[in-house]
This record gives sequence, structure tokens and C-alpha cells, in this order.
Amino acid sequence: MRTLLVTGGAGFIGANFIHYWVKHHSDDRIINLDALTYAGNPDNVAGLEGNTNYRFAHGSIDDAGLVRQLLDNEGVDTVVNFAAESHVDRSITGPEDFMQTNIHGTFTLLEAARAAWQGNDEHCRFLHVSTDEVYGSLGPDDAPFTEQTPFAPNSPYSASKAASDHLVRAWFHTYGLPVLTTNCSNNYGPYQFPEKLIPLVIINALEGKPLPVYGDGKNIRDWLYVEDHCSGIDTVLSQGIPGETYNIGGCNEWTNIDIVKRVCQTLDELRPGYAPRENLITYVKDRPGHDRRYAIDSGKLMQRLGWAPEHRFEDGIVKTVEWYLENRDWVERARSGEYRNYYRQQYNVD
Ligand code: NAD
Ligand code: TYD
Repeated sequence: MRTLLVTGGAGFIGANFIHYWVKHHSDDRIINLDALTYAGNPDNVAGLEGNTNYRFAHGSIDDAGLVRQLLDNEGVDTVVNFAAESHVDRSITGPEDFMQTNIHGTFTLLEAARAAWQGNDEHCRFLHVSTDEVYGSLGPDDAPFTEQTPFAPNSPYSASKAASDHLVRAWFHTYGLPVLTTNCSNNYGPYQFPEKLIPLVIINALEGKPLPVYGDGKNIRDWLYVEDHCSGIDTVLSQGIPGETYNIGGCNEWTNIDIVKRVCQTLDELRPGYAPRENLITYVKDRPGHDRRYAIDSGKLMQRLGWAPEHRFEDGIVKTVEWYLENRDWVERARSGEYRNYYRQQYNVD
């Protein structure tokens, strides 16, 4: 039986991870530490409130006292660090929070784990959740990123994540903290905040609003269903070798324009109202420094630890669209307040 401190568990992937963990490891205890920024949504974990093995703690990973108290008082032996500022566009307009949480917050968490475990950490694990964006951008014919690909982050977001990955590495080499790092490709699925491409397009298409595509729409991302990311983290936690990094990806590259068209077709079938929704596609000004292509080679995780994604993209995208159709209240609450201002500024609309 383990006791997990899951940070950022009210966000998209963290919440999916907690639901996954409760389903697959119901005897384990989970403490969810989340600062509830604009991206943190208590609705994402609302169903767990009655579960005696689950506890929510409101606060920041950068609060050394609070983190240490949770690690000590709860007897935490496993940290899974999802907490981060995660949206590239926001990192371009306001990078400071990214440096504070992603870099200094990770530092604070590492130091707290080191102090709490004090070398009695053979069975402890500190798993840092990171992104493929630390590797930079690929050309059309380049091989996918491996764990050996040199870091070359291009946005304030990816630079802050790369910095945190380096800290995690250093805490292993210098202090022997039993760390693991995962670098995953773009996730999609339930509970994703509607500022990201797939939920934004689903919701706008449902309402007959313009579907903003940056630049020429030919940028490529490697999409993974969020539950498969969670099973990858589970595999790395149980079998990964401390100090190592593991790439997690879907072997599933799509141009943005094809993703948007796919969402349109799916919605046209499920809710014909505004069909054909491809007419809503609107090319808008490109993101500054927009990375052209990401692709992940998950060979290490698949061959050495036996992980494989379970969801085909064709099924995962339908499940995702259906989830947003069935959870309109969640959408309305997520987009109330701060989101409206962000949307107006980012897309220059009233
Ligand atoms: P998200 O923005 O949906 O959620 C982030 C969560 O962290 C929110 O609940 C927020 O309230 C919380 N948070 C922010 N600052 C905090 C702080 N200082 N202390 C405590 N909590 C804080 O992000 P996500 O998409 O779920 O991403 C989770 C992690 O996975 C991030 O580290 C991200 O870099 C990484 N990642 C994301 C993707 C993706 O496609 N979304 C892909 C690969 C890796
Ligand atoms: P996003 O979901 O922000 O993830 P990331 O930037 O971390 O990959 O964006 C995915 C891709 O979609 C990226 O190439 C930018 C593009 N995009 C658009 O074309 N329009 C949009 O409105 C958004 C949010 C993203």
C-alpha cells in the first residue's frame, strides 16, 4: 500500500490520473495538492470527496512548509508532480508564473522530499511529469524524439519544463533522491481545460463559432489519450529505474488542420446542427515561435517495461467528443470568469 502526494490533481491530467489510480489501486491513499489556479477545477475530482483514501489539500507546491507538513504527517512515499502552468500561449503573454511554479515549485518539492525521506527512500519515488516539448521542434523527415535527444526548448513554457527536468536529474545525481521523469506528447480526453486545441474546437464547433487554426494549420502533434498517459506513469512508477527518463507517446502524428477536421466530422455525425462544420475553420495569426512538429519514440517504455497505449485515436476522439457533449455544465463552469477575458484577448473577439 502506497501513500501518494499527487500535485496538480485538480487539472486535466492530474485529475484523470487520480481517477485512474483509485480504479486500479484502490487501497492506496492519495493526497491531492493543488493551488486551484484558473486551470484547477474542483469539479474534476468532485466524485471522490466521500472516499476515505482521498484527501484534497489546497495550496502551492512552492509552499515549502505546507509541502513538508503533508509529506511528514501523511507518510507520503510517492510524489507524482503534475502541478504546472501548462499553456504555451499563456507562457508567451505572461511567462513569470511559469518560472515560479514550474521551476521554483519543482525545486521546493524536491527539497521537501529530500528532507522528509532523509535517505530512507529505497521504496520512495518522486515522479516528475514532463513534456516532449523540452526536445524542441522536428523537421518533416526527422526521427521522433528519444530519451537521448538533446533538450532544445523554444517557448517559455517548454524552457521552464526543461529547467525543472534538469533539477530533477540533478537531485538524483547529487543527493540520490529516487526520481523518475516522464516526457509525454500531447494529451486529449475528458476534463481538459477549453483553452487547449481539442476541447476548444469541440466546444466552438458545437456552438457554431469560428474554429481558430494558427498559421497554415500544418504543425504536427503526436496525440495520446490521457488514460494511456496515466497507465504509462503507473508502469514507470512500478518498474522504472530511479534516475532514468521515459518518453510516453501515441505514435499518432496529426496536423492541426486534420485534427480540427476530424472533430468537425465527428460532431457532424453526433449533432448535425451546424454541419458541415469545416466551414467554421478560420485561419488566424500564428503563435510566435510555433514549434513545427513533435513526435515521440516510446520504444524504451514499450520494450523495457512492457507498456503499450490501449486506445486507438479513432475511438479516443469519439469518446472525448461525447464526454464534452455529456458534460455541458462542466464546460459552462470551466469557461465562466477568467476564461472569457483570456479568450477575448487571445482571439481578439468581443
Ligand atoms: P493543467 O493546466 O490542466 O493543470 C495544472 C494543474 O496544476 C491545475 O490544477 C493547477 O491548479 C495546478 N497548479 C498550478 N500551479 C500550481 C502550484 N503552484 N501548486 C499546486 N498546484 C498548481 O495541466 P495538464 O495539462 O493537466 O498538465 C499536467 C502536467 O503534465 C504538467 O506538468 C504538464 O507540463 C504535463 N504535460 C501535459 C501535457 C498535455 O498535453 N496537457 C503533455 C505532456 C506533459
Ligand atoms: P495546444 O493544445 O495549445 O498544445 P501545445 O501547444 O502544447 O502543443 O495546441 C496544439 C496545437 O494546436 C499547437 O500546434 C497550436 C495549435 N492551436 C491552434 O491552431 N489554434 C488554437 O486555438 C490553439 C489553442 C492551438
